[in-house]
Amino acid sequence: MAKFQSLLALLALVPVLVRAQQTVWGQCGGIGWTGATTCASGSVCTEQNAYYSQCLPSSAVPSSAPPTTAPTTAPPTKTSPTTTSPTNSAPSSTATPAPGNPFTGFEWYLSPYYASEVSAAAAQMTGSAAQQAASVANIPTFIWFDQVAKVPQLSTYLADASAQQTSTGQKLIVPIVVYDLPDRDCAAAASNGEFTIQDNGQANYENYIDQIAAAVAQYPDVRVVAIIEPDSLANLVTNLSVAECSAAETTYKTCITYALQQLAAVGVYMYMDAGHAGWLGWPANLSPAAELFAQMYVAGGSSPFIRGLATNVANYNALVAATPDPITQGNPNYDEQLYINALAPMLQQQGFSAQFVVEQARSGVQNIRQQWGDWCNVKGAGFGTQPTTNTGNSLIDAIVWVKPGGESDGTSNTSAARYDYHCGLSDADQPSPEAGTWFQEYFQTLVSQANPPIPA
Ligand code: BGC
Repeated sequence: MAKFQSLLALLALVPVLVRAQQTVWGQCGGIGWTGATTCASGSVCTEQNAYYSQCLPSSAVPSSAPPTTAPTTAPPTKTSPTTTSPTNSAPSSTATPAPGNPFTGFEWYLSPYYASEVSAAAAQMTGSAAQQAASVANIPTFIWFDQVAKVPQLSTYLADASAQQTSTGQKLIVPIVVYDLPDRDCAAAASNGEFTIQDNGQANYENYIDQIAAAVAQYPDVRVVAIIEPDSLANLVTNLSVAECSAAETTYKTCITYALQQLAAVGVYMYMDAGHAGWLGWPANLSPAAELFAQMYVAGGSSPFIRGLATNVANYNALVAATPDPITQGNPNYDEQLYINALAPMLQQQGFSAQFVVEQARSGVQNIRQQWGDWCNVKGAGFGTQPTTNTGNSLIDAIVWVKPGGESDGTSNTSAARYDYHCGLSDADQPSPEAGTWFQEYFQTLVSQANPPIPA
């Protein structure tokens, strides 16, 4: 996972001192806002919601409220797969989503894999810390499908969830992360994946998606919520100067379109990954980001199952920062709520009424990074707000835990093929194992620094 930002380029664009007048796209009002309320010439302060008024270019100010329903644009025909691609077509299910927040009325299915990691970790600890550590297994955390070989486990989990539902009468959500793009993690090294574009990557990816869709289709009674491809679209917004990212652009879009279409057809609720406040939340990145996400929404068939976007996945930002971390200086959107409140109206203007989920698994302790772009096993992190639909913001469906706390972000071994320099920075906890593998000492700190504390 890379949490990249084009910070230096942007620093040149943002004023060092707070201006009396807000720049175009900046915030100019809303509950709790204490900054400038007038806008630079050529822009108008426009109320987007109770929390957020924004300086929109005069040409972009809507004459009426932004659309709240999905556009009727027909989905584009699916890009032809390469010759070796599987021949099965989209599942024919016409599942109709329940309106509203997909988390309401459901409990979470708990990942048996994460539970086994956590109980092994707790067994190495003593006293009340061990008790707290053990109870992390009861906090819902997303299940990552970062290799095609793991997909058969999904059927097992869905069967298990289905049986639990039958015995308790409580409906369950199985939360998954779809994370296996060819040439994955194009701007970094730590999470490079198993597929390459050169070697049949698109067909392999389509097969991976087909397997997930087939598993889901077998258990229509279980709700599945998926986060789609962390970092990938954000990399296409800011990192096309990285050769691997520009080379992957078309394939990423084709593969994600395929995932959106196939998973919508079997009724998976999806949130496309949208980086975080310190990445796409910079004012200059918001509008190109909104354009790309709206484009993907339409490409995916404008399905109501494409519920919206996920932010802060595997990152450390606060949903609402008590005060801005000094490393965020220059970005008016210094926390996830500010970022979401700024992005949502732009998406709405493009016909995508996106809702959000926000990761807080490792956001319990703030002001621990030297640079906002530092993402690898940041030292001193603690577990954050536990998953809830009580988010305080109608744009946010749920606070979620996506990164399984205790799994590493990347190795600090400089001779490893997937070594990324971020994992060797002085604010990165070391020595650290390969991405996705257990990092005991890191987990213990997440527990001891948890805010709010983990119940024993
Ligand atoms: C790794 C994945 C892992 C995920 C969750 C990512 O950084 O690349 O392999 O499943 O984190 O720990």
